[in-house]
Amino acid sequence: MSIPSIPLAGVIGHPIAHSKSPRLHGHWLKRYGIPGHYIPMEVASNDLAHVLNILPKAGFRGVNVTIPHKEAVLDIADVISDRAALIGAANTLTFQSDGKLHADNTDGIGFIANLKHNAPDWDPAAGPAMVLGAGGASRAIVAALLHERVPAILLANRTRARADALKAHFGGKIEVIDWNNVPQRMDEAATLINTTSLGMAGKEELKLPLDGLRASTLVTDIVYTPLTTNLLATAHERGCPIVDGLGMLLHQAVPGFERWFGMTPDVDEDLRQVMLR
Ligand code: ATR
Repeated sequence: MSIPSIPLAGVIGHPIAHSKSPRLHGHWLKRYGIPGHYIPMEVASNDLAHVLNILPKAGFRGVNVTIPHKEAVLDIADVISDRAALIGAANTLTFQSDGKLHADNTDGIGFIANLKHNAPDWDPAAGPAMVLGAGGASRAIVAALLHERVPAILLANRTRARADALKAHFGGKIEVIDWNNVPQRMDEAATLINTTSLGMAGKEELKLPLDGLRASTLVTDIVYTPLTTNLLATAHERGCPIVDGLGMLLHQAVPGFERWFGMTPDVDEDLRQVMLR
């Protein structure tokens, strides 16, 4: 009788010490009694291809990738999901049984799942979304919003050229607006999303007058330290529904866990509390 192999997965980045993914997957492994492991791995860019070649031979089913490897893995992968190709970056890799390396990006579906989970009445098609920021996270979120059929995206970034580049990539539904014009256009937004790092503990605050915000506008932030950013607190005072950013981290991890460990894990209050410890 053969002994079943111990399923392994992990996260590759540089640096990697700050990653919360080991705690997240570790909690699920323990909760579901799966005899696997999820390991943080510090890998330099020069070693990325070599490490990804070796890992499946050591029992790994797949890995998450984070900064600075999210774009580079697309040059190494054999199969790239449509959404990873569209976003131009991947965060979830699977070593397929045919030996091929599959690359996917689950950031956008994590973002949408978080909103659907915590604001079940939210209708992406109800009106324009205003997106602040045009970095890597914004790319994934813009792609996901378009997939959910938002009628229009008002996109603002401190460095306007990056927002223009996103519009050139994703097309006509995006209107780039000047960072300084955000307050004046605020009343058009049915959904408001901060994808910048502003408001994160240790960073600058997002100083944005919210006077124009409608009370029906769903407001969300990808920053989750602190959990309730000033943006979310002010929006809440104005009567807006708010969703914090922790759920995006939790939900983006579900497809990887499913593929590597063979079951769909729950995202619930228990998990949130583990992550907040
Ligand atoms: P990520 O992958 O997390 O999106 P990123 O690609 O570095 O990280 O993008 C960070 C985002 O936060 C960008 O939209 C950035 O604006 P710029 O493109 O102008 O750099 C935004 N950001 C960071 N610091 C900012 C600040 N002080 N004011 C305004 N926007 C800021």
